[in-house]
Amino acid sequence: MAKILAIETSCDETAAAIVSDRQVLSNLVASQIATHQKYGGVVPELASRQHVTSIGQLIAAALEVAGLDWSAIDGVAATCAPGLVGALLVGLTAAKTLALVHNKPFIGIHHLEGHLYASYLSNPELTPPYLCLLVSGGHTSLIQVRGCGDYAVLGQTRDDAAGEAFDKVARLLGLGYPGGPIIDKLALGGNPDAFSLPEGNISLPGGGFHPYDSSFSGLKTAVLRLVERLRAEDIELPVADIAASFQAAVARSLTRRTLRCALDHNLSTISVGGGVAANSALRQHLQAGASQQGLRVIFPPLNYCTDNAAMIACAAAEHFRLGHTSSLSVAAQSKMPITQVMALYA
Ligand SMILES: Nc1ncnc2c1ncn2[C@@H]1O[C@H](COP(=O)(O)OP(=O)(O)OP(=O)(O)O)[C@@H](O)[C@H]1O
Ligand SMILES: [Mg+2]
Repeated sequence: MAKILAIETSCDETAAAIVSDRQVLSNLVASQIATHQKYGGVVPELASRQHVTSIGQLIAAALEVAGLDWSAIDGVAATCAPGLVGALLVGLTAAKTLALVHNKPFIGIHHLEGHLYASYLSNPELTPPYLCLLVSGGHTSLIQVRGCGDYAVLGQTRDDAAGEAFDKVARLLGLGYPGGPIIDKLALGGNPDAFSLPEGNISLPGGGFHPYDSSFSGLKTAVLRLVERLRAEDIELPVADIAASFQAAVARSLTRRTLRCALDHNLSTISVGGGVAANSALRQHLQAGASQQGLRVIFPPLNYCTDNAAMIACAAAEHFRLGHTSSLSVAAQSKMPITQVMALYA
């Protein structure tokens, strides 16, 4: 079984982990939330600087917690796309250097493929084909998984990502950053039926709606108009009710599209990945809907939903097993479709 050390620095979490195939031996995450919170979002240059400060200690700690030294490591992996280029470069350069110094293969990993592989950490028996709902800070996609590195994007957002919508709505409600966990917690004490909010359907030219694509900017604007109206009427904002109604609209929208897509494509298993997979309303709605349709849903544990290096290591272990290793000239890229991951092993 291959032991892979992986590094993840695509955004605002510095992370290092070691897995043995699909078993996590160590998983360390240094969150930068405190650094970015006062700006209401991630400041790229500050993210890169903090990755530089934290990365060395995290890699050492990942080896120490796993009780391993370099001789036991079969390969070194890092996220190389998509993400903030300055942030990606820190982890990528560290991983390539370590691979060179210790004479190990290097495996570049696509960040979204990492989110997808988080499900294998809790469900090692998971086997393609299946449908993955990937809902993160920057992406919202329905991905047909046909095999390792073999993906088809069946649906996506036309504007904001689901996580981005949570963060923007939290900001306009005057809550903190990141918005998702705060809205989720507040919603527990609110009424999801208090306000009727749109689910963001995409109209098709010939009539009807796109079955799988979503849109969250209209929902965000609807919350903004609601807040403006309540403020104009001098009504104290029922923040918990707004949070619960917003979250329910997102959960309904994602659940409807995901179930429809799974049924249309004859996929009986659905996995969910990305930070928004931690959302309690999405978990409830999708679980209930899938049970009704006789489908199986896999939600990774909360700490594997948001950015971490264990999921990157897990994807890398699979590529390594298949003989996919990367050249040290693989570059950091801000954008890269998941359908092009195999270009990292050319
Ligand atoms: N419980 C939750 N409910 C809803 N959203 C959540 C929850 N927990 C985290 N999020 C959201 O998840 C996002 C972070 O997820 P993740 O770390 O996967 O995104 P990212 O790495 O920034 O983006 P990407 O993976 O697309 O590059 C944030 O937008 C955050 O608000
Ligand atoms: Mg992510």
